Amino acid sequence: MDAPILLDPRPVAHGTDAFAAYVPLPGLGLLPANAFLIHAEQPVLIDAGIPALGPSFVEAVRARIDLGQLRWIWLTHTDPDHVGALWQLLDEAPNAKLVTTFLGMGKLNLVSPVSPERVYLLNPGQSLHLGDRRLHALRPPVYDAPETTALFDDATGVLFSADAFGAVLREPADEAAAIPAASLREGGILWGSVDAPWMHMIKEEELAKTLQAVRELAPSVVLSAHLPPARGMLDTLLENVSAIRTASPFIGPDQEALARMLSGGAAA
Ligand SMILES: [Fe+2]
Ligand SMILES: [Fe+2]
Repeated sequence: MDAPILLDPRPVAHGTDAFAAYVPLPGLGLLPANAFLIHAEQPVLIDAGIPALGPSFVEAVRARIDLGQLRWIWLTHTDPDHVGALWQLLDEAPNAKLVTTFLGMGKLNLVSPVSPERVYLLNPGQSLHLGDRRLHALRPPVYDAPETTALFDDATGVLFSADAFGAVLREPADEAAAIPAASLREGGILWGSVDAPWMHMIKEEELAKTLQAVRELAPSVVLSAHLPPARGMLDTLLENVSAIRTASPFIGPDQEALARMLSGGAAA
């Protein structure tokens, strides 16, 4: 696979669809890049795809919902892999408000202005009422952007974990449970040390507290932006995140390695 691919949308939890893409990382593997749609009384899109997918992401969303019905676009954060089709969606879904933090709004405005009338500011600890449920914003244990908010759907028990619990994979998988345990652990540590290079500086007991908070949520499924749906494997996910703290910080291939890759050799 040389370019990102977008799979057909599919349900991954009750009333919840996934838009799963895979991004090749040269020399490392494949990174899942997922967005989600909650068919709540007030429908919510969680994140807006990667830019390289072009208009195909919006077409995939349109295949699952009339864009006029979409009420919210919740950005877990404003990294490029989460905001690809945002501005097109704001144009084509005129009844949708953008959920982000003050910092998220500021960062988006550095790319292209977003009218404040289209924005709804929500911080970790606050919640969004959708008529039939609440989405609770929270700070995930691993993140790479200060505006990040994960979210917990109190109707389905789904935890949308933003970048946390992601993993670099060798091949696509329908479910995280289908990934061999050693690969999941290795790929999770790699992703975590790329995404949060500060993890080795955090105290063990502080990390344990943030992981305990996730454990107490007891999510029915964890939907990470960077992992296939993870069901019945919370302990494994939490252990793998713990292991990031003691792993060597990630340092990418250098120029010599890039030259070897370009000439057809391996990265390392
Ligand atoms: Fe990110
Ligand atoms: Fe991401």
